[in-house]
Amino acid sequence: MKVTIIGLGYVGITTATGLAEIGHEVKGYDIDEDKIIKLKDGKSPIYEPGLDELLLKNLKTGKLVFTSSKQEAIEHGDIIFICTGTPSRIDGSADLSQVEDAAKTVAKHINNFKLIVEKSTVPVKTAQWIERTMRLHLKRPIDFEVASNPEFLKEGEAIRDFFKPDRIVIGVKSKRAERLLRELYKPIKAPLVVTDINTAEIIKHASNAFLATKISFINMISDLCEMAGADVDLVAKAMGMDKRIGKRFLKAGIGYGGSCFPKDVKALYFVGKQYGLDFKLLKDVQEINESRIDTLMKHLKKALWNLKDKHIAIWGLSFKPNTDDIREAPSIKVIKRILDEKGRLTLYDPVAMHNMQRIYPENMFLHYAKDMYQSVKDKEALLILTEWDIFKNADLEKVRSLMQTPIIVDGRNIYNPKKVKKLGFEYYPMGKMS
Ligand code: UDX
Repeated sequence: MKVTIIGLGYVGITTATGLAEIGHEVKGYDIDEDKIIKLKDGKSPIYEPGLDELLLKNLKTGKLVFTSSKQEAIEHGDIIFICTGTPSRIDGSADLSQVEDAAKTVAKHINNFKLIVEKSTVPVKTAQWIERTMRLHLKRPIDFEVASNPEFLKEGEAIRDFFKPDRIVIGVKSKRAERLLRELYKPIKAPLVVTDINTAEIIKHASNAFLATKISFINMISDLCEMAGADVDLVAKAMGMDKRIGKRFLKAGIGYGGSCFPKDVKALYFVGKQYGLDFKLLKDVQEINESRIDTLMKHLKKALWNLKDKHIAIWGLSFKPNTDDIREAPSIKVIKRILDEKGRLTLYDPVAMHNMQRIYPENMFLHYAKDMYQSVKDKEALLILTEWDIFKNADLEKVRSLMQTPIIVDGRNIYNPKKVKKLGFEYYPMGKMS
């Protein structure tokens, strides 16, 4: 099938590459010409395990093509996916101007029937707005339809999630749209949930908000465990063995970040408010998440007393492992808080340092290390903010021998407390006694 993707961020690039790989003829368009030049050259602007190989492969076979011509892009696809960004506005609502621009672009260049599919996470009723925008901007009467097909991919596992999703949700108005989307996803073996459009839009927001709620819930239990003298990891493990609860997304730590959860929780709260619904739970979810940084700072100060002129190493900057994405990463706030208190930082992350350098360039208080061991040399504490495997498997004896004082403050609970203490460290995990 002929497919066009508008908006080549995480979702757009993965969808374009995945659809090409399962045999469709895909054309990707983005307003950013530099991005298109890089992509044509096989260079992905995002770090995603497995993506580069698939991108190159499908560029070579010609199944995947990138263009900066709106007309070429729109005329190509029988199905057009809108994958543009939906960032938060100051009031927490979703800024849908990029989605609107995409709809106008389609209306301007539409040449025959198109199924326009929203893939970006959007508030309920966005499809109606897309349809209205299209109608207002059509140059001549041409048939089209709008559908919803929310994307559930996780960064760092995006390729796997594309080929092996837990479910594919399609929200449609007609059998014709349903047939087209069924045909599109035929090679992918996953349960297909067919709903009306409003329902599909809510499924996405509700799924993300629920997962974020699970994380904030366990983080509150984490604080309780710390105060009462219990172990949150064991609590989560036993809770998760109950199939009704499930073991995933019960990892306590410094809270959720990324481009989705913080934005979607706020946006869903805002959607409720528009209908007169006070979804208080979501306010608490956000507040608990924000307070995780306070808990971590409390641990750091318990370990170091004053932070002024203390030399601290940070391992992990990305909002989670296997990605270079630092959007809404807890590390950004932690770095600020330590710098505000005149602490001195050396940062290390296997792939995200280039992104952090844009927010915090090197200066006399803040350095970037070339390797993880170099980063801890002569430091008074090591702070762990992302649970990368290389940190889990670190040579801790080497770490201890390099550090000035052997203190680990672990925001992700990646080590066994007994083992690290035996190696001579003071260890401050989350939600258990240190
Ligand atoms: C999320 C959703 O999982 C995905 O379905 C949606 O399409 C986009 O948003 P993503 O943001 O890539 O995906 O990351 P995810 O793996 O869900 O983690 C989100 C955040 O929650 C991370 O900061 C992670 O560290 C944190 N997290 C996750 C926890 O703190 N504890 C957990 O148990 C799980």
